[in-house]
Amino acid sequence: MTTIAIIGAGMAGAACAAALTGQGQQVVVFDKGRRPGGRMSSKRTEQGYLDLGAQYFTARNDAFAAQCQRWLEVGVITQWQGRLARAEAGSVTASPDKTLRYIGVPSMQAPVAAMLDGLTLHTGCQVDSLAFDGKHWQLFSAGVSLGQFNCLVLAIPQQQAEQLLQTAITLGPELNSLFAVPALLPCWAVNLQLDHSPWPYDGIFAKTGSPLSWLARQGSKPGRCQGEHWLLHFSAAFSQQYLEADNSVIAAHALQLVQQLAGQPLSAAVTHCHRWRYAQQNPAYPLHAMIYRPELALGLAGDWVNGGRVENAWLSGVQLAQALSL
Ligand code: FAD
Ligand code: NAI
Repeated sequence: MTTIAIIGAGMAGAACAAALTGQGQQVVVFDKGRRPGGRMSSKRTEQGYLDLGAQYFTARNDAFAAQCQRWLEVGVITQWQGRLARAEAGSVTASPDKTLRYIGVPSMQAPVAAMLDGLTLHTGCQVDSLAFDGKHWQLFSAGVSLGQFNCLVLAIPQQQAEQLLQTAITLGPELNSLFAVPALLPCWAVNLQLDHSPWPYDGIFAKTGSPLSWLARQGSKPGRCQGEHWLLHFSAAFSQQYLEADNSVIAAHALQLVQQLAGQPLSAAVTHCHRWRYAQQNPAYPLHAMIYRPELALGLAGDWVNGGRVENAWLSGVQLAQALSL
């Protein structure tokens, strides 16, 4: 039996861990966060959860649709039937569609946590260096060894995977080519508490030209902050331009843009600002599904490899598990 270390307990790492366990492999999962979930992240507040990262997910692939069905049956996800709209040229208009959209319940982390249930998971554990002796990987956190493993899976964002690998090996041309173009671009997230809703909608897709990309009424989802909490995501271009800005600057932009879109002054308080450094797919990045290098006993999985969505992160993790079992 191979002992496999998986760094990253987001959707990709958890899917890989669950699939490998199902094949009879022994896995140990490490994550620096307090809870698994990664960018499927709902922040707990006194008024309920706030979805700061992924807002919902869709299933186009049959295997992922079947997985969603199982999650529905055990109650860790539910359908989100938000009333949708699009914002374009300064106006917001209804844009209903028939797409099935899912959310985790009571928080976005729930399906990830469900896949890791019963597995060996070390949270609050940042892996900061690695060693490779040609056969085995050793993991370290703050100079302390976390053990030796026959195989390593990195299910963390591209830029973090590159930094970690460089602590142990010289990246040859093939690995270097994976890191040549940034796969993930940033996203600023802001939550606004309004005194009333300016729109009769739950989710608004902001179309081209706006510094915003998405607005969602949290109270339209079970377990989330009730009342008029609106979660905003900024576009990749804006988020890149203001990457190092203070929260106060981002908050001011959020207030101004929402009032502009609503066409009226609003009584609003900014309750949270969160910068995601590695958030959304760079459309210029070439996709690979997953990466497996048998001679290095190394696999890489994640949405960055397979195309910036929850479904693609799951597929990447499952496909890597299949490659590792051959
Ligand atoms: P991650 O979720 O990033 O997981 C990586 C994990 O690795 C993290 O838990 C992290 O803590 C851990 N980690 C990193 N480095 C280390 C280390 N050195 N040691 C230990 N642990 C480490 N997708 C959708 O389908 N629909 C959406 O509506 C949507 N909206 C989004 C909005 C935002 C703002 C963001 C940021 C993402 C959104 N996404 C959405 C994308 C979706 O969240 C991701 O595709 C998916 O969650 C990625 O999963 P992953 O496992 O590849 O990576
Ligand atoms: P989806 O199929 O609901 O949406 C895909 C895209 O189609 C949307 O981004 C939107 O532009 C358009 N769209 C869908 N329904 C629409 C409607 N009713 N009216 C107008 N436009 C509509 O979801 P999918 O493909 O599963 O993608 C997940 C979502 O996650 C996308 O919205 C994507 O932009 C978002 N995302 C955001 C990230 C961030 O960092 N902000 C990171 C990764 C994904």
